[in-house]
Amino acid sequence: MKITEALDLPMPPNHDPGPIGWLRDHVARFSDGETHRHRRALITALLADIDPARLDPATPIATLAQAMDIPANPADVAEVARVYHPHLTPDTTAEQALTRLVHACGGTWDEPTAARICILVQASAGLAGPVRVTRRQAPDGTTIEVDLSAAGLRFGAGAHECPGQTLVTALETTR
Ligand code: HEM
Repeated sequence: MKITEALDLPMPPNHDPGPIGWLRDHVARFSDGETHRHRRALITALLADIDPARLDPATPIATLAQAMDIPANPADVAEVARVYHPHLTPDTTAEQALTRLVHACGGTWDEPTAARICILVQASAGLAGPVRVTRRQAPDGTTIEVDLSAAGLRFGAGAHECPGQTLVTALETTR
């Protein structure tokens, strides 16, 4: 059964890789250069509007979604986070979870929706456990693993450095 039939929700227009492929193609996390700067600006604008006092350390993803006015199910966010990275293979459960998240964001497969979902998925992944390893593509196409804990870089570094650090600090100090 196709994901669309299972959910009775519209899918991303003309996007063969499916919902998770669409997400990877539209988030700051997997973009570079000018595209990254534009997407990162959307994310920092959204994060700047969130009052850290609204986040509950007991239910961080639910309260983060509420702070952005998204009626998202944190279980769907966790499902998407599980297969978010391009070296993993998405399954139907994750594709359906992402389709529900897009619809929770208003149902439009666009950049602002990708930015909101990027925030939720990155927060879910980051808060689930320390990010120990990140990956970068070398100019020759090989994938390099960077050990962040060894480098003392809990929040990464450079253009993709975690923009959620203020919120993480707020969550940790109210814990
Ligand atoms: C409210 C919680 C959080 C939010 C909203 C958030 C959001 C984000 C976003 C949107 C990015 C992608 C930025 C970009 O590509 O330009 C990112 C990257 C990152 N986040 Fe977070 N994050 C959160 C929690 C955490 C936590 C708790 C950790 C670590 C313990 C963490 C570690 C990282 C790292 C290491 C990266 C960079 C990954 C890389 O460069 O490959 N984040 N975060």
